[in-house]
Amino acid sequence: MIETVSELPALRARIAAWKREGLRVGLVPTMGNLHAGHFSLVKLAREHADRVVASVFVNPTQFGPNEDFDRYPRTPEADAAGLEAAGCDLVWMPSVEQMYPFGADHAVRMRVPGITDVLDGAHRPGHFDGVVTVVSRLFNQVQPDVAAFGRKDYQQLAVIRYLVRDLAFPVELLPADIVREPDGLAMSSRNQYLSAEERRAAPTIHRTLLAMRDAARAGMARAGVEAQARAALGAAGFLVDYAVLRDIHLAEPDDGSGARVALVAARLGSTRLIDNLEFTI
Ligand code: PAF
Repeated sequence: MIETVSELPALRARIAAWKREGLRVGLVPTMGNLHAGHFSLVKLAREHADRVVASVFVNPTQFGPNEDFDRYPRTPEADAAGLEAAGCDLVWMPSVEQMYPFGADHAVRMRVPGITDVLDGAHRPGHFDGVVTVVSRLFNQVQPDVAAFGRKDYQQLAVIRYLVRDLAFPVELLPADIVREPDGLAMSSRNQYLSAEERRAAPTIHRTLLAMRDAARAGMARAGVEAQARAALGAAGFLVDYAVLRDIHLAEPDDGSGARVALVAARLGSTRLIDNLEFTI
């Protein structure tokens, strides 16, 4: 059975022993309830490190007061079994007290400026502060040489890149491709909140992203692409937070050519889904 540690001294002892042997350590940060998307991160980290640590921690500081922290699915036994099968070496499963010794409300908080003011940062105030607060702790705890993050959380990846560069964390980031269900729905722990009817509507997000790409490539102006996407999502029953075309730095691009990303965040009932598609025009 894969080793699971929940106390910082035990984690540090294991990592120190690996480092004494000259082994490279990879980190896969997760909030648990793992699926094939997470296991692809483990596989990617494995390709760049000799030992892989996955953290499983539902981080209270990145959830807003009306968000799903309490009902977020917690499946530690299944997570450990899946991580073992995926080739992970160690599970770091800290308690809130281990992660935030003074309590989550009295923790030193981090904040990345600028890029967190838009999109999910605007719709989920404080969310990225909580993400960088916990990710910088994970980097300090695990001291990884590499760390894998999914491209599905496009803005999160951009925020973490900024964090690593600005604070000079000695870690190489490994972005991992989005893993999709056969009908195109991006894998997410939140998919299980969907009713059968909502699950049938959910792949509309991916179809909309593909339509945004095709329309932009066909020369449609950005405003038209975005309006068409909001209409398609609305017709499928979504409440749309945003459906936008951006450059790779999340700035509003002109209608010329270049690298682009289409991003959607939309709600079906009480479930908020995000997805994106990178392409060039
Ligand atoms: O992407 C996630 O699952 C979380 O935001 C992360 C990076 C594990 C931090 O809690």
